[in-house]
Amino acid sequence: MDLRPHYRALGDTGIEVSPIGLGTVKLGRNRDVKYPDPFTLPDDDAVRALLAVAREHGINLLDTAPAYGASESRLGELIGNRNDWILCTKVGESWDGNGSTFDFSADAIRASVERSLRRLRTDVIDIVLIHSDGADVGILQGDAVATLDDLKRRGLIRAFGMSTKTAAGTLLAAETCDVLMTTFTEVEPDVREAAIAAGTAGAGLLVKKALQSGHRADGAALASPLASAAVSSVVVGTISTKHLTENVGQVLAAVA
Ligand SMILES: NC(=O)c1ccc[n+]([C@@H]2O[C@H](COP(=O)([O-])OP(=O)(O)OC[C@H]3O[C@@H](n4cnc5c(N)ncnc54)[C@H](OP(=O)(O)O)[C@@H]3O)[C@@H](O)[C@H]2O)c1
Repeated sequence: MDLRPHYRALGDTGIEVSPIGLGTVKLGRNRDVKYPDPFTLPDDDAVRALLAVAREHGINLLDTAPAYGASESRLGELIGNRNDWILCTKVGESWDGNGSTFDFSADAIRASVERSLRRLRTDVIDIVLIHSDGADVGILQGDAVATLDDLKRRGLIRAFGMSTKTAAGTLLAAETCDVLMTTFTEVEPDVREAAIAAGTAGAGLLVKKALQSGHRADGAALASPLASAAVSSVVVGTISTKHLTENVGQVLAAVA
């Protein structure tokens, strides 16, 4: 099973991504999460094995965030060849083991990207998304976008955007961002419509929580977003090599 012939353009960024990406919340954080079952963080060998299976099938997109606990540091340590991967991380939300704090100021965003560069052990991050707290429009009216644009001009990041939570935020973000991450389900049809409009207009579109964080784990949930040409990749969280392989099979059946 090889996804490589099915890579999709990430909007107008020049980046190409596999139609399924690997979400890495569960590599770094097992408290204060919305998954149906409790779980233990995988050890280093299990993470290496997961990443090896992802590579074998041609997955090139890894999605992480400072808010995912040890996820960024573990990826930095365990991904092997940096050039094998498109790394997507976030700014704006921090998680200290107990709860989240949000800071979308220019200083916080610059400091967060510098910390992610160190943790991911890289000179350039492919994609940085604003990790919205829900107030998408208010955040977009602040300094965050201009700060990320400056980091892009300085060569520290290749593309930037926002993981949005509202339809209005998705549409507004599309005016200034390279990439959007949104849900894409019948539960939030207004967000889905806004995402399709944004993707059609040239934003790279990444889909999050397609399996509703494990509450709806069926193949149709992966196939349905990929039926839209506006979607570049569905980012699915898993720490199971079995589930990862099943998901790749479902995606290949949908896109091949
Ligand atoms: N605001 C944001 O920016 C934001 C918010 C949420 C998520 N995200 C990103 O999107 C990614 C995906 O979201 P998510 O992790 O919340 O949810 P998800 O991808 O919808 O679901 C992940 C859950 O589904 C289970 N699963 C995966 N494949 C399965 C299969 N074939 N059969 C049965 N169960 C399966 C996983 O358990 P196993 O480990 O047992 O496979 C995991 O508990 C995240 O990892 C993250 O990268 C971003």
